Amino acid sequence: MNWRAVRLLGVLCTPLLWPLAAPLNAAEPPERSAAELMDVLMWNREPVGGAFRLVDHTGKLRRDTDYRGRLLLLYFGFTFCPDVCPTDLQAIAQTMERLGKAAEAVQPLFVTLDPERDTPARLAPYVTFFHPRLVGLTGDAEAIREAANAYKVYYAKVPSSNDYTIDHSGYVYLMDRSGKYLGFFPPGTPPERMVEVIRPFAEGR
Ligand code: NI
Repeated sequence: MNWRAVRLLGVLCTPLLWPLAAPLNAAEPPERSAAELMDVLMWNREPVGGAFRLVDHTGKLRRDTDYRGRLLLLYFGFTFCPDVCPTDLQAIAQTMERLGKAAEAVQPLFVTLDPERDTPARLAPYVTFFHPRLVGLTGDAEAIREAANAYKVYYAKVPSSNDYTIDHSGYVYLMDRSGKYLGFFPPGTPPERMVEVIRPFAEGR
């Protein structure tokens, strides 16, 4: 995201104009900037998490409630991501390995931000490559937008030489067994650190 454009938007979107703009934008939920969402997460300004209704990489309908009783490690990205997503997913996979038996209490989820290209068929080999327990989730654009908004994930489609790419934030979210938000790991958190934080929750009841 171009910061000059962000500032420009900030100037243009004065509250006075909102009522006029709202009906036109009704189909597309308002997008918040990466900086604003980072601020929300950093300072815990708003609740994080919530209900989702998506399709997993085997084509099965999945709701957040399907995973109650397990800790959730959630990551939002897309399979065409050149290096950030693979690095973070590898860290999640290594975290699972290092947790050993305690990993049974943890469910890692990869939610795509590119539902157009990330069909269940495309997600299946991708997620299983990283870890056999990693579940890939996709859905229609609206369901993905809803889930991303609930987790304060920033993402935007941007044109690239290779058609388009997705600009996105890369946090790993940790939810407790009842679906309550425990916190997030910033991008680049090493697996050792994730294990340290997760283990007490995974071994406790
Ligand atoms: Ni990515």
